[in-house]
Amino acid sequence: MDKHKLPSQFKIILIQISNFLHHIIQIQIQVISDSPAFFSSFSWLFIMALKLPLHFPSPPLFFHRNIAPFKHTGRRFGVFGSNATSQVTANFRSKSPDDINVLVTGSTGYIGKFVVRELARRGFNVIAVARERSGIRGRDDKNKTLEDFSSDSSSKSTTTTVCFSDVTDSETLNKSIDGLDLPIDVVVCCLASRNGGVKDSWKIDYKSSLNSLVAGRRRGATHFVLLSAICVQRPSLEFQRAKLKFEEELVKEAERCPDFSYSIVRPTAFFKSLGGQVESVKSGGPYVMFGDGELCACKPISEEDLASFMADCVLDDDKMRKILPIGGPGKALTPLEQGEMLFRLIGKKPIFLKVPIGVMDFSISILDFLVKNLPWLNLEDAAEFGKIGRYYAAESMLIIDPETGKYDAEKTPSYGKDTLEDFFRRVISNGMQGQELGEQNIF
Ligand SMILES: NC(=O)c1ccc[n+]([C@@H]2O[C@H](COP(=O)([O-])OP(=O)(O)OC[C@H]3O[C@@H](n4cnc5c(N)ncnc54)[C@H](OP(=O)(O)O)[C@@H]3O)[C@@H](O)[C@H]2O)c1
Repeated sequence: MDKHKLPSQFKIILIQISNFLHHIIQIQIQVISDSPAFFSSFSWLFIMALKLPLHFPSPPLFFHRNIAPFKHTGRRFGVFGSNATSQVTANFRSKSPDDINVLVTGSTGYIGKFVVRELARRGFNVIAVARERSGIRGRDDKNKTLEDFSSDSSSKSTTTTVCFSDVTDSETLNKSIDGLDLPIDVVVCCLASRNGGVKDSWKIDYKSSLNSLVAGRRRGATHFVLLSAICVQRPSLEFQRAKLKFEEELVKEAERCPDFSYSIVRPTAFFKSLGGQVESVKSGGPYVMFGDGELCACKPISEEDLASFMADCVLDDDKMRKILPIGGPGKALTPLEQGEMLFRLIGKKPIFLKVPIGVMDFSISILDFLVKNLPWLNLEDAAEFGKIGRYYAAESMLIIDPETGKYDAEKTPSYGKDTLEDFFRRVISNGMQGQELGEQNIF
């Protein structure tokens, strides 16, 4: 029998089995924790991934401006600009910031917003590419984006130009940017899949990033700053493979064109990914961690500090043609240490809930089995989210020493001034506003 034509009752039974597995895991964990606070912890993000089938909001409709065609005026580029031209700008580093045009894609994201703000603060001419509905689940409209970006540049005389377009469609993006009739010196790409699914990761972290490169190159960009992730060192997830493939494109482009350079920024953990348990701990819940809480460690970095580091990459010669892993200030912290810090700041006696990592492995193996054997259940993304949760539960966000193959906190560079302790203090008093996780609730 064709498995795609299974009787609907049989399909329903299979979905019920899947849901049953989901409930079994929930019960296992509830027995361990006996606390609803567990479900507001990092671990429940993984469990949520098992809610079958997954529903994501439909992507918002995009609109792009009708723009006059680009007039070809300059010289040709290799693969990326075979039919295109540049207006300027290999030696942009000798110009003053207010003569340097920086195109930012992914400008409305958690990091992108701070990057736009920081570049504008430094006096660059920023061109922020945005969707007409942006932000988590498209909650911000065009006016909100214009408002956010108009106040960003108030400290200097430069203005941020907002270009509403569609980064997923190369032709549309090129037309929109051509329509501005501005040369581009530098592209800063902070794009990332909002739902972290398999197809979306390739569409955004690879293809749309590539579209940003092509669009920038057509207008003369000779430098590209990429927001990547330190975890691509040990890739096992689709978004990591997509990011790595795009990193390779940048390196190839620099090999082809000697006047082109890149800075690939690979940050460690963001604060937003570590603040999810503050509320539950504050209201008396345990701090939930996997294994003994020492399976992994990270040197978290704030949005402001990372944005500042990325802005440095625009002009700093020593950051050109480099892969730049970067963490925040202070020592690397394990989940156990983060939990201890949180209890100390809240002034409560620590209560830890240690979840065996095998819980995740068990669930992932079942989901993988279902993905392979019953593809029509559409569980590919659910399995991927489980793997993402598993990855972050056990892998450190630190440099891997190539000689030992082990994570090395000492070798992981630190930058900035914002500490996790200050962040926890702020969240304890003011909550998690501005620190919401993405649509997949994982990162
Ligand atoms: N979380 C961590 O601890 C951590 C650590 C290191 C590295 N990272 C990396 O940092 C990146 C996440 O950065 P972030 O948190 O700033 O991301 P984010 O808040 O999810 O922002 C993603 C950006 O990409 C844009 N985008 C996504 N899908 C799009 C689409 N279909 N069309 C147009 N634009 C789209 C978003 O635009 P809209 O606003 O229009 O949706 C937004 O501007 C990821 O690559 C992750 O691997 C994360």
